[in-house]
Amino acid sequence: MPSTLRNTHSALRCAWHALCRSDEVSDKPRSFTLMNEPYVVWRSPSGDIRVFIDRCPHRRAPLSLGSCEGDSLRCSYHGWRFDADGLCVEIPALGPDATLPSRAQLAGPHSIFESHGMVFVAPEEPLTPRPQLAAAGQGDFLRGDLPVMVTRGSAGLLADNFLDMAHFPFVHGNTFGAGEEVAVPHYTVTRDGYCFSATYEHLFANREDPGVLDGRRPLLQTRRLTYRYTAPFHLELDIEFVDAGGSNVIGFFLSPQDDETVRIYSSLWRNDLDGSLERMAEAVDFEIAVINEDLALQSRFAELSIPLDVTTEIHTRADRTTLELRRILADLVSASRG
Ligand code: FES
Ligand SMILES: [Fe+2]
Repeated sequence: MPSTLRNTHSALRCAWHALCRSDEVSDKPRSFTLMNEPYVVWRSPSGDIRVFIDRCPHRRAPLSLGSCEGDSLRCSYHGWRFDADGLCVEIPALGPDATLPSRAQLAGPHSIFESHGMVFVAPEEPLTPRPQLAAAGQGDFLRGDLPVMVTRGSAGLLADNFLDMAHFPFVHGNTFGAGEEVAVPHYTVTRDGYCFSATYEHLFANREDPGVLDGRRPLLQTRRLTYRYTAPFHLELDIEFVDAGGSNVIGFFLSPQDDETVRIYSSLWRNDLDGSLERMAEAVDFEIAVINEDLALQSRFAELSIPLDVTTEIHTRADRTTLELRRILADLVSASRG
């Protein structure tokens, strides 16, 4: 088996991927590329998301240049009209009552679902579970979306980077990494099929806590970090402030566009901001700065693929999450071959 996984590896077709954000979809068809395949996406008047390959079966024009008519989509080239299931229901050049070719049918991904303000597709029958954001959907969380970021990169390496704990003081010296412990605490990884989670607690200086300023709590407080991973490229980091209360959740969905390009969909959920949109906007700006610190390195890797043969690299006990990532992706590649 190939020992690395690139963005367009065929095994990734048997998995869920973030295609776009819900608010990027309207009644005006739009094209999004996933693993070299363009998809046309629109929302029908009934509110359902429609997703098909962005290529008319007639003369292969991009359907995203067409227009929606009620629940159907009309191609901009010769006006063929396709219903909600992708079946051609009108060919203007043949006049009314014509017999339409049975092959005039749009192809689509195997499955679609919308959740957490995202549209996910599985090009072929998915082996992996639907991505969940365990912490995010609950209660009184405020949500802040980062702008969609497009970068040169490997989705596998960007997932690796999100799960990596040892780079904070070195890469994030201008944001949250300043003063972070260099040593990674002991932690264990709990795997469940194509998912895993890892939790650890550590002490940190909580300079944002008003309770520190008025002497109710000490500066050094406990923070519990839980990483949750769902193959291939869905990640969540839940940061709980054990002493001061409250949680920050970072959702990170990587959408591989082609072998050199990834779209990053990241959102924050916080319940520690007293509902302040202003503070959320600051948190989003801070997170953008953090990701840009990562991308300055990640976009420069010569080899845009993640090794699946675990003997290729050196792993230490500080790398348990990223080692598990490689094992799970390798398992997905094996399983996709049946
Ligand atoms: S290419 Fe779409 S109708 Fe002809
Ligand atoms: Fe980072």
